[in-house]
Amino acid sequence: MTTHAAKASRVWITGASSGIGAALARELAARGYVVAVTARSEKALAELAGSAANIHAFAGDITDRDGMATLVDAIERDLGPIDLAVLNAGIYLPTSFPEFDVDIFDRSFAVNLGGTVNCLAPLVPLMSARKYGRIAIVSSVAGYGGLPTSAAYGATKAALFNLGESLAMDVAAHGVKVSMIAPGFVKTPATDVNTFPMPFIISAEDAARRIVNGLEKGRAHIAFPKRFSFLLRLINLLPRGAYTRLVGGATNRD
Ligand SMILES: NC(=O)c1ccc[n+]([C@@H]2O[C@H](COP(=O)([O-])OP(=O)(O)OC[C@H]3O[C@@H](n4cnc5c(N)ncnc54)[C@H](OP(=O)(O)O)[C@@H]3O)[C@@H](O)[C@H]2O)c1
Repeated sequence: MTTHAAKASRVWITGASSGIGAALARELAARGYVVAVTARSEKALAELAGSAANIHAFAGDITDRDGMATLVDAIERDLGPIDLAVLNAGIYLPTSFPEFDVDIFDRSFAVNLGGTVNCLAPLVPLMSARKYGRIAIVSSVAGYGGLPTSAAYGATKAALFNLGESLAMDVAAHGVKVSMIAPGFVKTPATDVNTFPMPFIISAEDAARRIVNGLEKGRAHIAFPKRFSFLLRLINLLPRGAYTRLVGGATNRD
């Protein structure tokens, strides 16, 4: 265990039953952290917990506000104070028009945004009282600016950026740090359904290593792969009309 791991030894990860969250749990466990994992799929969590002695399953649905308060209590009672929380659970539901499926927006907002808030609600007061802790919020490079099929998903990820950066300013005085995580394309069950080309796609294991490395260095913004996130941030500096014309034109699949 590194010095850093010894300081931030207990980690809570949401959305850990598959993809990036599961890979993060394995990476952190291998580095000596005590890891609490949450998702709805009890079976997948049990298998993950069975793979390492320092991974512990705490199943739950992040859209359940009271449930998240109870679950955070249970983790702290069983394992001790949460030093690092990685709020990673999220869903990707692409939009298509002209039919307007309000349900896609409702579900995306409820899980990605409301669910993250439900996890923050018990965590922020506990960490603030201890004057110690880091909260990492998994957004996406899709939160930097609008993208095709992302009207619902991208809106939640942009909102998470704003939420997290604002929160970071407010809780700094209470000794709590916030890191924003912006992955590009990562091969997971969420992206396996995509039929379009996914430039610079990396494995979930690679993503997990980059995230943990960034968190151990105390980074406020962890974005990867570097070339892809840099390119997206660069084109987001364009005037907004030019941005939408460029991205809309480059990704037009008709
Ligand atoms: N893959 C990418 O290219 C990519 C890129 C940028 C950002 N991200 C973000 O990275 C995060 C992880 O995505 P992923 O690609 O690893 O997808 P994934 O394999 O589909 O994992 C999503 C995780 O979220 C959990 N989850 C979904 N709804 C939940 C709920 N209501 N309560 C609790 N847990 C819930 C799922 O578990 P259960 O279904 O068992 O609950 C699962 O463990 C997401 O926030 C995603 O937006 C992914």
